[in-house]
Amino acid sequence: MPLVTLRQVLDEAGKGGYGVGAFNVNNMEQIQAIMEAARATKSPAIVQASRGARKYTNDRFLYHLMLAATELYPEIPIVLHQDHGNSAQTCLSAIDMGFTSAMMDGSLLEDGKTPSDFEYNVKVTKEVVDYAHKKGASVEGELGCIGGIEDGHGSGQSRLTDPDQAVEFVKRTGVDALAVAIGTSHGAYKFTRKPDAAILAMNLIIEIHKRLPDTHLVMHGSSSVPQELQDIVNKYGGQLKQTWGVPIEEIQLGIKNGVRKVNVDTDSRLAITGAIRKHFVEHPGDFDPRDYMKPAREAMQKMVEKRMVDFGQAGHAGDYQPIPLSEMAKRY
Ligand code: G3H
Ligand code: 13P
Ligand code: ZN
Repeated sequence: MPLVTLRQVLDEAGKGGYGVGAFNVNNMEQIQAIMEAARATKSPAIVQASRGARKYTNDRFLYHLMLAATELYPEIPIVLHQDHGNSAQTCLSAIDMGFTSAMMDGSLLEDGKTPSDFEYNVKVTKEVVDYAHKKGASVEGELGCIGGIEDGHGSGQSRLTDPDQAVEFVKRTGVDALAVAIGTSHGAYKFTRKPDAAILAMNLIIEIHKRLPDTHLVMHGSSSVPQELQDIVNKYGGQLKQTWGVPIEEIQLGIKNGVRKVNVDTDSRLAITGAIRKHFVEHPGDFDPRDYMKPAREAMQKMVEKRMVDFGQAGHAGDYQPIPLSEMAKRY
């Protein structure tokens, strides 16, 4: 089937009461890991590329790898999503290329670092929505700021989402999905202890969902940073400091309260790095990239499969047929 829209996949998730993991990719092996996990668990898949990913791969390569994924996995609904678009131009160029969805992260200015004001965010997000919806593509907006600057994106401070502003933002922009800031951050170093309500504001999700029951909520910075992945990296020569991510049960609580898209990148990075480190310690003479990329891909697949089961999307790949973009455009 052709690439499908985020809107359709999240509408279906809403009907079924489950969440859908959105996994970042930068190369062929990561795409393969997600697609194999989706096939093994019969899951719809959201594959997302940051600006950095588009630059690293040269996005034409990435786009055509995704077309290969639609050919090779025809039974899987696949969304191709721009993650953290920093400007309308970034989002529009993704949509023009064939991405079926884009995130306009207007919570920050175009530098991807400086927190913006509400009116700027509404204006730039609405501009993307107007363009995307004419073509049937979907848009995710963000209100509040996700913490963390490890990946070069973000202001370094988290600014939690205000529920009243969220209502106004959705009304004025018409976004299909809303990313909310609840105290998570990008990267491995999210929390210095297992998070409780004092540092992870799940109550905000509940509050926002009450006011916006029909809006698909998105959790960013949602890697769980599992202890076993940290241990593998460190056992084989890595030097990660002890850290805590977002516990799966907190994500599941979010999913019960309107979270439909769950962004995961760091856990893939850890799975891949752990497997490659292990391989080189155990086989120091190897130098064929296939020898260490294969276990790396398998390690990411295993992690993604687990998330797909835990988020509830497993078993739902065959529930629906893709709605063409032209039909989606008519619905707005
Ligand atoms: O924004 C968060 C994602 O983890 C993407 O990271 O910008 O380093 O590709 P990146
Ligand atoms: P993690 O760093 O927790 O994987 O978050 C990824 C993300 O939010 C991508 O937009
Ligand atoms: Zn993010």
